[in-house]
Amino acid sequence: MIRNSKLINLLSIVFLSQLSGCYGSNSTNIANTTLENVSNNEATLLKSSQSKILLLGGNVSTFDASEDAFEHASPKLSEEEKIKFKEGEELFDLEWEVASTSESKKDGLGPFFNSNSCVSCHLADGRGRPPKDGEEMRTMLLRLSIPGKGEHNEPLASHNYGGQLQGFSIPEIKQEAKVSISYQDIKGSFSDGEIYILKKPLYRIDTPGYGLFEKDTMISPRVANQMSGLGLLEDISEKDILALEDIDDRDKDGISGKANYVWDQENKKFSLGRFGWKSNQPTIRQQVAGAFLGDMGITTPIFSSEEITTPQENYLKTTKYVNGGTPELDEKGLDSVILYSKNLSVPARRNINDPEIINGERIFSSISCNKCHITNMNSKEEVIHPYTDLLLHDMGKDLADNRPDFMASGSEWRTAPLWTIGLFKTVNKHTNYMHDGRANNLTEAILWHGGEANDSKEKFKQLPKEQRNELIKFLNSL
Ligand code: HEC
Ligand code: HEC
Repeated sequence: MIRNSKLINLLSIVFLSQLSGCYGSNSTNIANTTLENVSNNEATLLKSSQSKILLLGGNVSTFDASEDAFEHASPKLSEEEKIKFKEGEELFDLEWEVASTSESKKDGLGPFFNSNSCVSCHLADGRGRPPKDGEEMRTMLLRLSIPGKGEHNEPLASHNYGGQLQGFSIPEIKQEAKVSISYQDIKGSFSDGEIYILKKPLYRIDTPGYGLFEKDTMISPRVANQMSGLGLLEDISEKDILALEDIDDRDKDGISGKANYVWDQENKKFSLGRFGWKSNQPTIRQQVAGAFLGDMGITTPIFSSEEITTPQENYLKTTKYVNGGTPELDEKGLDSVILYSKNLSVPARRNINDPEIINGERIFSSISCNKCHITNMNSKEEVIHPYTDLLLHDMGKDLADNRPDFMASGSEWRTAPLWTIGLFKTVNKHTNYMHDGRANNLTEAILWHGGEANDSKEKFKQLPKEQRNELIKFLNSL
């Protein structure tokens, strides 16, 4: 949804003009300057004239910090692409319906699904969260597998339930199962004596509809990620990402970093993984098609048959179930959702001149947060600030899901990009962080760090409260 775009451009003018002395002195030009028409040269000038990073997504940034902040199209889109973006947005927001016998192009939900639209999980293009007491699981999901690896090194799907547990099914079709979560307290304290309690989630699967779960079934609970700047991440060169790898920790800083290599279904080859909480998807294209199939039961040209196990197939034969055509979404529709997913702007930082935030940024580097959350990366022709290396890191046993995903071990996770992190509260009305949303605020997110990040975490615990608050304020400015 692109609302208030006039207002935003106006705001950006004011903002840019306040920022840079050289712009300010040339105020007649500023009147026509929006992010849209700041040329590359001018943008570079802008950046070099600021000591602090403002435009996290380079030219693909927006100055909206309202609840619509994540929903803006990249200003770089051509007129033709803008139309396609709109079509993609409509399909992203569309509530898919159960297939009927009539000729609808927009049906085919299920038979099993986690939700009926992309936007219901990626709310306002933002972040999902775990269910509260009594709620159903809606904006997160559980990946499933059994020990062993498939032909392409992929996790082995459960025989009865497949690679993902879907909590919902279309009318008159038996459900797969229900998940509930309970929490176990983990107590700790900061060096100044302040006590904290972290809540470790424990998952329980009940009422299995299609036979028993294999006894050593592994689960990986994951919330829906924010959608900003994904195309920029896709445009970082493989070479630059691999240059950050240090698998054997040769520099002995306790931090390694390893690329995931995953199967690219269309190109029939292994590719560098970048998307998903374990860098388990190679491209936005495959991630989106995977979401249509896995999360909503919508087939596309990439994944053209429903993910149904043998016991499910046998059962469906006894029902009136029909699918919505093969595929249920054609290439044109899929392509528009991919373009949409690639081209959402990244909100610019806020309050960058606040002295506490400036101190917080210094602390971020001094306790080595920036060794994984890499500040500057090249994305095609410009520098972006995603605060990630897109690599896998061993994060210790408390955070582990114990479920390997291609080359990622059960305790390895992709460094989460930190751009947009300060805006979830405004956009998504919650502050649940980490892959399963277990951290209730940013302090808890840091306290869950272990493994390669343990040293950073310990240093954080030793900081006086005032400095801890400055670090959190810095994170909230991203
Ligand atoms: C049931 C909730 C749910 C629905 C519905 C859903 N997603 Fe997601 N999405 C997720 C989860 C969970 C992840 C993380 C997956 C992983 O780590 O393997 C994710 C990840 C993504 C990513 C990768 C983001 C990143 O930072 O790596 C993209 C892109 C995406 N989804 C697009 C879509 C699109 C497009 C649709 C609709 C076709 C959709 N999703 C529907 C839950 C959902
Ligand atoms: C060894 C690499 C590493 C270091 C060092 C590190 N992190 Fe992280 N960080 C990660 C990974 C990996 C994740 C994702 C973990 C997960 O979701 O389970 C993450 C997640 C986060 C998140 C939550 C992001 C989200 O989207 O939910 C925040 C906030 C964060 N880190 C801040 C910090 C801060 C602050 C520091 C320094 C005290 C730090 N990190 C040090 C690797 C690192």
